[in-house]
Amino acid sequence: MTSLSGETLRNTPAGGRFGRPLHLFGSVESTNLEALKLAAAGAPEGTAIIAEEQTAGRGRLNRTWQSPPGCNLYLSLILRPAVEPAAAPQLTIMAGAAVAKALTRWCPGIVGIKWPNDVLIRDRKVCGILTELRLSGEGISSVIVGIGVNVNIRREELDPAFRDAATSLLEETGTETDRTAVAAALLEELESLYDLWIREGFDAVRPQWLPYSVLTGKRIRVAFQDEVEEGMAVGLDADGALLLEKSPGALRRVLAGDATILKES
Ligand code: BTN
Repeated sequence: MTSLSGETLRNTPAGGRFGRPLHLFGSVESTNLEALKLAAAGAPEGTAIIAEEQTAGRGRLNRTWQSPPGCNLYLSLILRPAVEPAAAPQLTIMAGAAVAKALTRWCPGIVGIKWPNDVLIRDRKVCGILTELRLSGEGISSVIVGIGVNVNIRREELDPAFRDAATSLLEETGTETDRTAVAAALLEELESLYDLWIREGFDAVRPQWLPYSVLTGKRIRVAFQDEVEEGMAVGLDADGALLLEKSPGALRRVLAGDATILKES
């Protein structure tokens, strides 16, 4: 199995700000944790942290993220947008769209996103994104975008609890993929969509996300802590919230949670 190449990444196309500087680790608890420490120490926007293995990979909603050595990609990026903290969920959506675009290079036409930002191939999760926000006073100090992509993990190596719901690029394409190339594609698409968001706002990013959405037009259930909402997923609000139609004309905004598609009755 090929190791990740920091040298190749550092020499990727000219002008790239994302991935500069790049910190490449063997084993860490969590690249998000490393990113939070570097951000607190003043690391600039664009700093990326990549590891061969995570011993305590963090997932959304306090879950863990399976992070065995040498086969997948674990990447965290430090952002420092000068926007209101309330706009941070838009970055979660932006990151999902950027990852979907990057993975489409290997799997054209079969990549989807389950709101907010689970990236799927043929309805199985290939990538999870965990965005962590740190504030200073009233403003954003940093946003860490942590991305885990199942690249070359085999089906039998996947945690049995998720085996039926998860996949990898290897399982979908039948061949091993160069993780360095995936990391470079992610950084490139993230930089391009982030710059679009900074320049033109969320209205320009939303149409990049919507074509990948696997929930739109489906009856779904969204669970968050003790609350459960059901309805038809009809779109994305101006701030990244999911729009759920509870009954004809009655829309509800959902800000966070885990969505499942309900079987047609
Ligand atoms: C999810 O639950 O879907 C989000 C998973 C996010 C995993 C990535 S791997 C790189 C980064 N470091 C972490 O500890 N978590 C994120």
